[in-house]
Amino acid sequence: MDDKHLTRRKLLRTTAMGTAALAMPAAGSAAATTGSAGLPAILGGKPVRTAPFPRWPQFRDADEKAVLPVLRSGVWSRAKTVAEAEKRFARLMGAKYCLATSNGTSALITAVRALGIGAGDEVITTPYTFVATIHPILLANALPVFVDIDPETWQIDPAKIEAKITGNTAAILPVHIIGGICDMDRINAIAKKHNLKVIEDACEAHGGEWKNKKEGTLGDLGCFSFQTGKSLTCGEGGAILGHDEKLMDRCHSFHNLGRPHGSVAPRNQEGHPIVATKCRMAEYQASILMTQMESFEEESKVRSENAAYLTAKLKQIPGIVPRADHAEVTRTAFYYYGFRYKKERFDGLTRAKFMAALRAEGVRASSGLGVIEGKPMNKEGCIEDAFRSRTYQRIYPKEKLASYQVDNEFPKADRLLEVTFVFQ
Ligand SMILES: Cc1ncc(COP(=O)(O)O)c(C=O)c1O
Repeated sequence: MDDKHLTRRKLLRTTAMGTAALAMPAAGSAAATTGSAGLPAILGGKPVRTAPFPRWPQFRDADEKAVLPVLRSGVWSRAKTVAEAEKRFARLMGAKYCLATSNGTSALITAVRALGIGAGDEVITTPYTFVATIHPILLANALPVFVDIDPETWQIDPAKIEAKITGNTAAILPVHIIGGICDMDRINAIAKKHNLKVIEDACEAHGGEWKNKKEGTLGDLGCFSFQTGKSLTCGEGGAILGHDEKLMDRCHSFHNLGRPHGSVAPRNQEGHPIVATKCRMAEYQASILMTQMESFEEESKVRSENAAYLTAKLKQIPGIVPRADHAEVTRTAFYYYGFRYKKERFDGLTRAKFMAALRAEGVRASSGLGVIEGKPMNKEGCIEDAFRSRTYQRIYPKEKLASYQVDNEFPKADRLLEVTFVFQ
């Protein structure tokens, strides 16, 4: 039996057990039993799962075989392995061009800067994301303008985007979050109508498809992370996908200290024609990425099948609402698996107690972004920090920054943060 099948079986067992744990009524209620499983573990019963979860990332002989020659070659900085990994990732995602970067955050920083987004510009995005979506906007001295989410899919709600567009809006930055895919048809249509750029944050979304096209290939630029927890990883790493050669040249030059690249070489000059930073991928990162890509398709298939199985089971439990996908999603890409719970269906059980009951059963669950990040992004300290800075005070009129704070409530994202659980 090979590793793949072992993993699949283990995962299926896990999801089935997770479902059993979720089927428990409120701890302390008269009916607090799990049928054949007896008392919930939190009340002294036997946990449904005691076996450890599969380790991630998965380290194989192939990774070792690939990385050793690179180490021994002494060529560790960006060279031919990175270029090969770029080609392979572009092929895997069905993209025209790919640029590898040092991580997903630097991919986003590069994308924002390559599109010329800067002081005075506004970038529309979601409050329900990881902070690495927001820092690149602030580092460009631009304003992140938030739009509330759709509580069923957990993604940015396209119906609310147009109301936030002003003469300063430069781009929309949708984030495909917790295994979901934003409604890219509507987002792209709005962008086209208002002449805006679209940067997809696909850092959690490797391989998901919208109408058979991969996430990260649907906007002007798509940014990925290969950080250690991601479905495709090389420890740290990132990539930008795109279809416009000149724009990708700009990304390349920006990520390489502004050195000339392709069309970014006015009058073929040497030197450093654009303001830039350095965030290149290293050769040994790329060598691991190459071997990890070999198993990616099969692993993604297993992940999607398991998620579909889990959804079918969880849907049968009153009060548990798995995150939903748009009908246009032809393939899911699960980094996290998310669901909401309705406490009224569990005798008012608090999320903390529900979580404790799940964990007592050996089910690895967390509250998702709310707990990892503490707050929705619109309430983050880094935004206040930027607004207090001399730079922002010079760029933006006082009234603009004051009205931003007033118009900064997103009840659906706030509510979601209070009622979600995720499996990772
Ligand atoms: C939504 C989102 N955006 C951006 C990032 C940043 O990626 P990285 O950690 O590789 O810098 C991550 C990953 O952690 C993420 O989940």
